[in-house]
Amino acid sequence: MRLILHIWRQKNAQQKGGMVRYEVANVSEDMSFLEVLDVLNEELIEGGQEPVAFDHDCREGICGMCGFMINGVAHGPLPGTTVCQLHMRHFRDGQELYLEPWRARAFPVVRDLVVNRGAFDRLIAAGGFISGSTGSAPDGNAILVPKENADRAMDAAACIGCGACVAMCPNASASLFLGAKIAHLGLLPQGQPERKQRVTAMVAQARREAFGSCTNIGECEAVCPKEIQLEVIARMNRDFLSAATTARGDSA
Ligand code: SF4
Ligand code: FES
Repeated sequence: MRLILHIWRQKNAQQKGGMVRYEVANVSEDMSFLEVLDVLNEELIEGGQEPVAFDHDCREGICGMCGFMINGVAHGPLPGTTVCQLHMRHFRDGQELYLEPWRARAFPVVRDLVVNRGAFDRLIAAGGFISGSTGSAPDGNAILVPKENADRAMDAAACIGCGACVAMCPNASASLFLGAKIAHLGLLPQGQPERKQRVTAMVAQARREAFGSCTNIGECEAVCPKEIQLEVIARMNRDFLSAATTARGDSA
C-alpha cells in the first residue's frame, strides 16, 4: 500500500515549524506506524535530507516513549494502542494522514514529532518516596491487600507516562497521569504513610508546570493506550481534599 503523510517538521523549539508532504510507497500492512517512519527516514537519508525525529524505545507498547497525533488523535484511531503497536492494516491504501507532535505548553517541541516530557518526571519526583522497613524481604503474605484494591492498583500502575492524555485534553491537564500515579500507591498499604503529603506535593507541582485543570471532558480516557479510567482522577481529588482539610495533611 501507499500512504501520503503530512508530517510536522520543526528544527528546534525556537524556530517555527510546518507540515511537509511525503509519499511512502511499498508499505506492508504488517508494518507498525514507526516502521513506516523508518522506511521514510531511510529514503530521506539516501536523498541527503534530514530524517524525521520521533521518540521510541521498546516498540512493544510498554515504555511510553512513542506517541504523536495522527489526524488529530493521540496515538491514532485504534483504542488502547500506542503508535508503536499500531499496524498499517488499520489504514487504507492511498490514505492521507497528518502527523503532529503532542500540543501542550508543558511539553515543548524538541524537534519534529519529539516533545520534552520532563514535566512528568518533575511530577513523579515531587511525589517523593515511600517508607519501607530495611532488612530481609517480608513474607509475601505478611501484608494483606484486598483483591479489589490489588486489581485497581495494578490497573493504575499500567500507566506508561506517554503523555497522550495531556495532548488530547483541551485543557492540557495531566490529571489522568497524576491520578494513575496517586491511585497506584494510595490503594496499597505501602503507599499509606506518605499518602497525603504525596498528593499535596504532586498537585502543587502540576500547578507549577504549565498543565491545565481537569473539567471532566474524558478525552484522556478515550485515547489512553493503557485504558486508565477517569475514576483515578476522582480518587486523586478525594485524597487531595482529605489532605487539604486535615490540619497538617499527615493524619486521617
Ligand atoms: S494515563 Fe494513559 S495516556 Fe496518560 S500518560 Fe498514562 S498511559 Fe499515557
Ligand atoms: S516505543 Fe515503547 S511504548 Fe511505544
